[in-house]
Amino acid sequence: MALVTFSNPDYKDKTVYAVAGSHTETLLKIAKEHKIPVQFDCQDGECGHCLVRVTSIDDKDRMGYFLTDKEQTVLKELGKLTQDQIDRLHVDDMPSEWRLACQMIVRDEDVRVEY
Ligand code: FES
Repeated sequence: MALVTFSNPDYKDKTVYAVAGSHTETLLKIAKEHKIPVQFDCQDGECGHCLVRVTSIDDKDRMGYFLTDKEQTVLKELGKLTQDQIDRLHVDDMPSEWRLACQMIVRDEDVRVEY
């Protein structure tokens, strides 16, 4: 199980349990299930409306996350990542702090999600 804390200055923080390791449990799906108002539109990694900042809040080593080509393209268009940064994340097997909630699969780590 992973603890996911959703945080937004306009709302009270909300922490929910997530089943880690499922290939269908995206961050956006979890947010919707818990009625957390993360913005979204396409739900397919193309519009960028579901941009979130994800940081680890446990003591485990960070796990790398795979960014799809679509997600890389949108994050670059939004000015959140450069190609150099993406290349470095892949080489170092580190996660990006900027993600698209509809593309991020929750893993077994406790995270804070700013939306
Ligand atoms: Fe469009 Fe996530 S909802 S990129």
